[in-house]
Amino acid sequence: MAPSSPFVLRWGIISTGWIAERVVSDLLVDPKTRDVHDVVHKVTAVGSRSVEKAQKFITEYVEGDKSVKAYGTYEEVYADKNVDAIYIGTPHTYHYVNALDAIRAKKHVLCEKPVTVNSAELRSLIAEAKKQGVFFMEALWTRFQPLTLELKKLAEDGTLGAPVVVHADFSNDFGIRLPKTHRMMDPALGGGAILDLGPYPLVWATIALYEHPSNKSTKPSNITATMYKLPATGVDCNTSYTVTFAPNPATGSTLAAQAVLSCSMNVASHSPGVTIRYEKGTIIIAAPVPCPRSFTVQYFAPGKPGVVAREETRKFDYVGSGWHFQADEVARCVRDGKLESALWGHDKSILEMEVFDEVSMLNYNKRTLFFY
Ligand SMILES: NC(=O)c1ccc[n+]([C@@H]2O[C@H](COP(=O)([O-])OP(=O)(O)OC[C@H]3O[C@@H](n4cnc5c(N)ncnc54)[C@H](OP(=O)(O)O)[C@@H]3O)[C@@H](O)[C@H]2O)c1
Repeated sequence: MAPSSPFVLRWGIISTGWIAERVVSDLLVDPKTRDVHDVVHKVTAVGSRSVEKAQKFITEYVEGDKSVKAYGTYEEVYADKNVDAIYIGTPHTYHYVNALDAIRAKKHVLCEKPVTVNSAELRSLIAEAKKQGVFFMEALWTRFQPLTLELKKLAEDGTLGAPVVVHADFSNDFGIRLPKTHRMMDPALGGGAILDLGPYPLVWATIALYEHPSNKSTKPSNITATMYKLPATGVDCNTSYTVTFAPNPATGSTLAAQAVLSCSMNVASHSPGVTIRYEKGTIIIAAPVPCPRSFTVQYFAPGKPGVVAREETRKFDYVGSGWHFQADEVARCVRDGKLESALWGHDKSILEMEVFDEVSMLNYNKRTLFFY
């Protein structure tokens, strides 16, 4: 029997910044190079605050495809009948309004991380997406990568026992002499480390702990956090946060584990980015934390905690930079009429936003003291 043709998802791209360039480049990688044969991606429209920028983006990143529409407003992309799904790559504080407009135009939505700037915005978007009957997902690309899928199988087959502690950090040296108007420095654009970099340490805590079968999807029992805020604009530069999961008779969770997480915007990333410590071994994930290409599993000798009896490293390679796997998930969900992903569903974005709400509240009105 001849194989059926792949499902084509037609994308409208909102904004022409750094991440939009990366995501569109990956959308155009032939899916067959990653052994995907059931879905393909087509960019049909690009929207920018300037039509010239949209056209330049198409010339540079969509191989100058003349059929792709360049628009000088985002609204025209939402209204385009040749667009099925909208990708949103604007600064954090615009995600809510951009996603809301797209959803109300009955478009499916993939929205960059952090999906919104608080859980109230997110809950309202999810309600609207359900009302309009459209798919809605945060672009937490790490969750869909082949490394993650493989790691989860191994972490949950019982060999390593229960997870106990996760350590994860994601840092990036943005250079704190950035202009105050740069999105990382500007509170009005959601600047600071926690909203931009914080989702990545947290996604590993979510994968290793929240998603662990013993947790029964139970929310954390406790969150702590501390921040160093930059005097120039007051955004957080370095943030440490812990997320604890306690056994919960009400949900049936037996997980007792803690994630110790951090993010910084003034220092380079280091490796390993993530260490997941189990009763009977350790998983060490090489940086970069958003898109690692290898991990090592250390198995302890039976009855000898901490004594490594065997070590195994797995490496992952593919064409492109790793953003295409989330797009394949969107295409499959849209094809199958799903409103959310089973891998990164609405509950996980809500968990993320609730953790960040708490991290912010714990540091609200707390200014860093300076001693000179
Ligand atoms: N998944 C990932 O790996 C990843 C990596 C980096 C960033 N991100 C996320 O993607 C989002 C954008 O980050 P980015 O680094 O791509 O930012 P960026 O380079 O500054 O691009 C943001 C784009 O948003 C549009 N925009 C709309 N209103 C704006 C405003 N008031 N100020 C500035 N730009 C505005 C602009 O495009 P037009 O002028 O064309 O409208 C701009 O080019 C953030 O939420 C960030 O967390 C994700």
